[in-house]
Amino acid sequence: MTAEAGQRWTLRGAHTEYTVTVPAHGRWLELVAWGPHGVSDGPSPVAYDGPVPFLTAGDAAPIEYATDADRPFTGADLVIETVDGKRRVGFVHTDARIDAGQRELAVDFADPVTGLRATVHYLVPDGTDVVQRWVELTNDGTAPLRVVRAGSGGFCVPTPHGALLSHQWGQWSQEFQLSHVELGHGTFGIGSSQGVPGHLHVPWLAVRDTADPAGPAWGMALAWTGSWEISAERDTGGLTRVRAGRQLVDGPLELAVGERLSLPVVTGAYSPDGLDGLAQVWHTHQRLLAGDRLTPRPVLYNSWEATYFAVEAESQLALARIAAELGVETFVVDDGWFVGRNDDTAGLGDWTPDPAKFPAGFDTFIAEVRALGLNFGLWVEPECVNPKSTLYAEHPDWVYVVDGRPLTPVRNQYLLDLGRPEVAEFVHSTVDGLLRRYDIDYLKWDFNRPRTEPGRPGGVGPLDLDGAHVANLHRIYERLRRDHPDVLIEACAGGGGRTDLAMAARADVFWPSDNTGPLDRLAIQYGFLHANAPHLLSSWVTDAPGLFDPRPRTLAFRFVLAMAGVLGIGADIRAWTPAERAEAADWIARYKEIRDVVTRGEVHLIGGPDQARCAVQYTAPDERRVVVLAWHTGRLDGAGLLPSRPVRLPLRGLDPAARYSDGDRHYSGSHLAAVGLPVRWSATHDADLIVLTRD
Ligand code: GLA
Repeated sequence: MTAEAGQRWTLRGAHTEYTVTVPAHGRWLELVAWGPHGVSDGPSPVAYDGPVPFLTAGDAAPIEYATDADRPFTGADLVIETVDGKRRVGFVHTDARIDAGQRELAVDFADPVTGLRATVHYLVPDGTDVVQRWVELTNDGTAPLRVVRAGSGGFCVPTPHGALLSHQWGQWSQEFQLSHVELGHGTFGIGSSQGVPGHLHVPWLAVRDTADPAGPAWGMALAWTGSWEISAERDTGGLTRVRAGRQLVDGPLELAVGERLSLPVVTGAYSPDGLDGLAQVWHTHQRLLAGDRLTPRPVLYNSWEATYFAVEAESQLALARIAAELGVETFVVDDGWFVGRNDDTAGLGDWTPDPAKFPAGFDTFIAEVRALGLNFGLWVEPECVNPKSTLYAEHPDWVYVVDGRPLTPVRNQYLLDLGRPEVAEFVHSTVDGLLRRYDIDYLKWDFNRPRTEPGRPGGVGPLDLDGAHVANLHRIYERLRRDHPDVLIEACAGGGGRTDLAMAARADVFWPSDNTGPLDRLAIQYGFLHANAPHLLSSWVTDAPGLFDPRPRTLAFRFVLAMAGVLGIGADIRAWTPAERAEAADWIARYKEIRDVVTRGEVHLIGGPDQARCAVQYTAPDERRVVVLAWHTGRLDGAGLLPSRPVRLPLRGLDPAARYSDGDRHYSGSHLAAVGLPVRWSATHDADLIVLTRD
């Protein structure tokens, strides 16, 4: 059955709309326009009706979800194979449903030859300018099918003058490096084949036209915690098409007769105001994902850099006592608390507190921490196992392995095959058991190695190891949250190796990098905040010189930097002088006064870590308070030597006619926007927290 051809539907966001149509031939769904309200009322900026010499019409069309029959040459989202190796799926439109509020749309297609059905779903969460998209495939045929490429969707962006792509790359201790690439022609690709989003690239991309970088910006981010790929291809007609989806590192997905498969959500975002505006769109979306868990996070202390693996009750309590005096609210014991764990060569898997380290018992230790007025948090890495552990001795078959091949250790550990029900049960009951047994308010869930072995002992035929691992990981997070709603979970993967929208919906905060060196960290957080809201940014003040970046900065700089998200301390505070402790207590008190604005305010990223002006502005939702965190990036620009002027930070989104005050300094909104908030740096004054109050 072919549904009525030439239909079109408009999804409406807070300020944006997204219009799609099924052309008269009924073979695919294509974009009409994506932009501000009203943008679809006029000729489509992405439609192509000229000749397509040496291509097919589908290769040039702005197709939303293309099969290899639609786009045989320029990249399909979906490739299906029959058991006898035949490829090609050609769809016929069958049905569509949109809700009265124009926020949910489902468009159905069917392939008469294989019997494959596909429903292309759209959802605009209330009050946002994002569109969530996913595809459901059902095998209604009579023979099994194989999904060879499982894209989640294509996004078509008009880039008549060239595509300016922004992405984030990195490595361990250097995550979220924001970079820009001009794509004249051809393809740009990022991804991960590590079974985890990874340190190398973030499943996030922004596209602008090269002629208008401060103007319209389109973003895409994938909600998938496994292997993934995102590519952008600019065609000769000026259209950039972004494809995003799972990377099928384990081979094709099997789709048995009658089986249904839901592919991961890919989310699109639009802002008329460049990358800064796009960041706000992502923040609004993630705040919504957090739901009623969007509360200002506690100030925490984490003992990792102070004691590393040498965890024992006495030293932890010494740290906790000082932390409590400073105003810290949650004390987190990092790696090293469980049996056999004295370095990174042993212990993972055996999640029992080490009685030698806690001679009076772990309960007593926690009670002593809590008696200081602190909440208690614990580090775990439950998906991993050291070969030197009881767990591995008992269950060597639980790790990923290719029969007959040696295992690849990373950080001296192997990875448990979480897709297996008994392993998922072990991981869930281990963490759940700790939360039930002990008085724990906070969990740091780490993941310190990617998957290397694509197999299971005795495994026959293709297995979707990646999909099964991710599905169980998500399920476990969801269950833990449901059963322990008051426990906050920090997601970590050797720093920021596991940050994607699916995790942003399940974890409360991310540890973005092990690098807390001031200037390195500034660049990491600058990139991170382009894609992630501040409530997800865990940040610690650590000792100087740091492990990675020894460039000296004041304690004030390090505090103001950590206040840009969720403030924590990771230094050995036992060695801090009384003056340093007093200063720290003062910063923590000031953070508590502004953290609701940091958590809920509208964020503007001003300048950048490689510019003389570098700040983050947070405007409270009621616009009465504006918090500005500013950092001196290294250039004094002649200050003190030449007749000099202060650095000016142009603020955004303020009422030009309103007046704003910082103590006895007063400014109009117009001045703050056009001229900027003055900050004057010196060698000893290298960061500032300024709170402007609207008069
Ligand atoms: C990872 C984390 C660190 C710390 C160590 C503990 O590297 O990123 O923050 O928890 O593991 O082993």
